[in-house]
Amino acid sequence: MKRVAILISGGGSNMVALAASMKGDHPARPVLVASNEPSASGLGRAQMLGLPVVAVDHRAFGKDRAAFEDALAAHLLLARPDVICLAGFMRILTPRFVERFRGRMLNIHPSLLPRYPGLHTHARALAAGDAEAGCTVHEVTPALDDGPILGQAKVPVAAGDTPETLAARVLAREHLLYPAVLRRFVQGDRTPVFL
Ligand code: GAR
Repeated sequence: MKRVAILISGGGSNMVALAASMKGDHPARPVLVASNEPSASGLGRAQMLGLPVVAVDHRAFGKDRAAFEDALAAHLLLARPDVICLAGFMRILTPRFVERFRGRMLNIHPSLLPRYPGLHTHARALAAGDAEAGCTVHEVTPALDDGPILGQAKVPVAAGDTPETLAARVLAREHLLYPAVLRRFVQGDRTPVFL
């Protein structure tokens, strides 16, 4: 069985979708849910699922990103993950941390990368007048929201969409895309999934 750690900062709906997928004949199991945000509601959801959880509050480390990441890495190393899934994890990771887990860390981003790395993806897609939006799962490399694309799901932009309505439509697809990519990835298959 492959071991999967999931990093969150918020509601954790992608974490729930990933954890729910790792059942039965799935070749992986969730072994840790970690958050930089102690008040993240996703931590409670993970506990309800019976998963080990840990919070490492980045604020306790001030501007010292390396110290925060060392504390986070200590928990990860104890959990011995084969794969780390960033699922709404909203801290930028240093190249040092990324290198440590290179080749086995995935991220989901709410845009059709390479369009709209960074924040406010849905507002930017609407401002650009895009007809389609979506989400991307990619391997994490030191550059933000970069790295080989492992899957993408598209949704239409509807007339009258707001960033919130578009985000909700995309999020529903994230919950299908991320588990589909993870299932392939843990089997060593990096062929992109397109939904
Ligand atoms: C998701 O839409 C995810 O793509 C996005 O945050 C949301 C988390 O929702 N991630 C990023 O913006 C990463 N830069 P969730 O906590 O309910 O899974």
